[in-house]
Amino acid sequence: MTKKIIFSGIKPTGIPTLGSLLGAMSHWEKLSSEYNCLYSVVDLHAITIRQEPSVLRDNGRNLFAWLIALGLDPDKNTLYYQSQVPAHAELGWILNCYAYVGELNRMTQFKDKSAKNADNINAGLYTYPVLQTADIVLFQANLVPIGEDQRQHLELCRDIAERFNKIYGEIFTIPEAYVPPVGARIMGLQNPENKMSKSDDNPNDCIYLSDSTDVIIKKFKRAVTDSDNTIRTAAEKPGISNLLSIYSCVTGKKVADCEAEFDGKGYGHFKQAVGEAVAETLKPYQEKHAHLMADIATLDAIAAKGAERAANMAAPTLKIVKEAIGFIN
Ligand code: TRP
Repeated sequence: MTKKIIFSGIKPTGIPTLGSLLGAMSHWEKLSSEYNCLYSVVDLHAITIRQEPSVLRDNGRNLFAWLIALGLDPDKNTLYYQSQVPAHAELGWILNCYAYVGELNRMTQFKDKSAKNADNINAGLYTYPVLQTADIVLFQANLVPIGEDQRQHLELCRDIAERFNKIYGEIFTIPEAYVPPVGARIMGLQNPENKMSKSDDNPNDCIYLSDSTDVIIKKFKRAVTDSDNTIRTAAEKPGISNLLSIYSCVTGKKVADCEAEFDGKGYGHFKQAVGEAVAETLKPYQEKHAHLMADIATLDAIAAKGAERAANMAAPTLKIVKEAIGFIN
């Protein structure tokens, strides 16, 4: 039986965080054996916000190297830069003609991003979800791993794909959200009520995978806690609960055992231990990443191979789309 297809797009707009490592990335190995997985560094999406060319290039390569360092095997998964597979842009344009302004107007991410980038509300920012639709249906993806913030875009993708199918016949697979088995939900260190994510406003909120041991320990020392001074998981103790869950994740110990281990100990001692454990966990990934980044030619060659594979996978869909529309072959 042919494997189902998973497509995932990851924006090259900064360094991944500990949250992404312990969250999504921990399922990768299992996914790559059960599914045909594509992971695209979506640089075409990144330029909806103005990018410094050298920064975009560095962010792209760094992210690509992180994906591999964290365990995505480029032989078992298709890893590539979106901009190296022209079919994304081609199908993106086509699907623009099947997406309604009315539906794009409802996209909450567009509204948020235009509010944040009032001086650059470009058309790409507006049609971003159509390109995202193309990314997915180009590969006839069955499943798309997404966070809550992308649900609306996936709904739109399904609507556009169904509309297209209604006009031209069964051309696109209608994708569904992939909900990973419940894993750790790592919250912010400063805002333990919110998911840990890249944050420009407060770099102490998240641990970047590239953070040094000193920085990691410092960030954990500054983590928001409470004044109750007992180390246990409780709804009214989101900060300490999060630290316990991080410690449990990186050490592989059960949360209850972690609570026992720190019974009677102070928060200072606990935070130091969590910081050290996290730094220890990250070290081998950081070494692998540094090793990959030390040889850009090889890294770029891996990406080129991935792009070739992705282009081959995309070609049949683009062909039937063009034929269906009436373009001359
Ligand atoms: N829009 C997604 C984000 O902001 C990134 C993305 C682009 C994506 N294309 C995709 C995610 C296709 C899933 C599938 O995170």
